[in-house]
Amino acid sequence: MYRLKTEIEQLAAAVRRRWNRCPRAGIILGTGLGNLTDGVDVDTVIDYADLPHFPRATALGHTGRLVCGQLAGVDVVVMEGRFHFYEGHSLESITLPVRMMRELGAEFLFVSNASGGMNPNYHSGDIMLMDDHLNFMGSNPLCGHTDPALGPRFPDMCQPYDRGLLELAETIARRDNIRCHRGVYAAMTGPNYETRAEYRFLRKIGADVVGMSTVPEVIVAAQCGLKVLALSTVTNICLPDDLGRVGKMDVIHAAERAEPQLRHLVREVLFEASTQSIRPGVTQSS
Ligand code: HPA
Repeated sequence: MYRLKTEIEQLAAAVRRRWNRCPRAGIILGTGLGNLTDGVDVDTVIDYADLPHFPRATALGHTGRLVCGQLAGVDVVVMEGRFHFYEGHSLESITLPVRMMRELGAEFLFVSNASGGMNPNYHSGDIMLMDDHLNFMGSNPLCGHTDPALGPRFPDMCQPYDRGLLELAETIARRDNIRCHRGVYAAMTGPNYETRAEYRFLRKIGADVVGMSTVPEVIVAAQCGLKVLALSTVTNICLPDDLGRVGKMDVIHAAERAEPQLRHLVREVLFEASTQSIRPGVTQSS
């Protein structure tokens, strides 16, 4: 068996030893959104340090625990603390938790992040549902792996964000008066924020927001067949002709202010998605 598949199985086995349920969804929490776990009926909390092959979280505003329990009555594993390319982790390490979630039996992946908004209609604190992305990380988590057990070698990416989940999220946002867009996320490595010329370029080629995460996880989710809902909180406005300074604490505070709405949306979508039959995702072939 190939090395990565063995590691995924060892990792999933370590979780199963501590928690004997099958998660319906995996959740990856981004900057300032860690409080979502307050709403989880917790069965078990596992420190990343106790999980074999798992990287260690180092980013500000991220802890480093896997929370296993029920959200809205649905079995979930929640990553409190995620990994970034700019911390020096490989794309393989960053995406290992996604493969673990699939191995544990998850059907859905919910992922959140903070982003800079380049679409002039967006305001700080708005939520954007990711409908598509641009990968500017200069690499790809699928490079170098040829194990057919991981999924197709050349995954289709015509719809990496599940249409059923997107429509559900929009319906719930409308119903509950949450300001919410659907748009394109550009993934950069960071860790610096972008220059005016970079924001201008990214906007011109079709991005609505820009951030430093999520796309590697979504690529792996597409390969292993998870249905993805990705929610981005716009934390700073990036209009190149009127650009103010931005710091990490501004981003964290803006994400924290928007968190209650995002938390509500995740919870409601999870509940609805688990009770109704979502249109199956696009079938993958190798
Ligand atoms: N650029 C990249 N990542 C970000 C930004 C930004 O402006 N804001 C929050 N995350």
